[in-house]
Amino acid sequence: MSDGLPDGVERRPFDGRERLATRGSPVYGEPTDGDWRAWDASRSKLGAMLSRGLDTGLTGGEPVLYLGAAAGTTVSHVADFAGPTYAVEFAPRPTRDLLDAAAPRSNLFPLLKDAREPASYAHVVEPVDAIVQDVATRGQAEVALRNRRFLADDGRLLLAVKARSEDVVADPGDVFERVLEDLRSGYEVLATERLTPTHEDHLAVVATPRTE
Ligand SMILES: C[S@@+](CC[C@H](N)C(=O)[O-])C[C@H]1O[C@@H](n2cnc3c(N)ncnc32)[C@H](O)[C@@H]1O
Repeated sequence: MSDGLPDGVERRPFDGRERLATRGSPVYGEPTDGDWRAWDASRSKLGAMLSRGLDTGLTGGEPVLYLGAAAGTTVSHVADFAGPTYAVEFAPRPTRDLLDAAAPRSNLFPLLKDAREPASYAHVVEPVDAIVQDVATRGQAEVALRNRRFLADDGRLLLAVKARSEDVVADPGDVFERVLEDLRSGYEVLATERLTPTHEDHLAVVATPRTE
């Protein structure tokens, strides 16, 4: 790990601008330089967290459970630097593209499953050191609490809370407070940061399981 980034993630110049990058097959038309592919932080909340220097606890090579994988924009970068990467997505359309992103990545395992029902994939997913969660659904704290069963006691939850998925009219600050309060029943919150302006009305949360 260097510069607070996991092994396998580097800041590299693309067209004269320094950007995060991982090594792997391109997925979404991102610029490449040899084996390296730029990681577009404006399209990825985890990319934005790393770009801003949040201490995510990711070291590289660890098993990861990714909730809300969509077409694979972010989870493909995760699989480039992590170990086994389990990618849960419940919508069939983006999952088709996710399968394409997984084809050249032997450590990326797409699961067409509902993240609110972890029992449906518990037979496949091994214990992980990190859960990355970016699900656009009401009850984001509850999703994190239900999936805590997979996370090592000293592991990290890296959560992007989307205020408008909880309540379209409420003040995002109030929504974040409510989500954090719910989350604290099972997690200790280590850090939070608003992801404005790249991700409007999103809060990044780094948390670890409460063990008492
Ligand atoms: C903002 S998108 C994720 C983008 C993705 N994380 C990325 O950066 O490439 C949110 C995704 O969460 C998925 N989602 C919402 N509720 C879900 C659930 N209960 N289980 C699994 N996926 C869910 C949606 O289908 C959508 O693809």
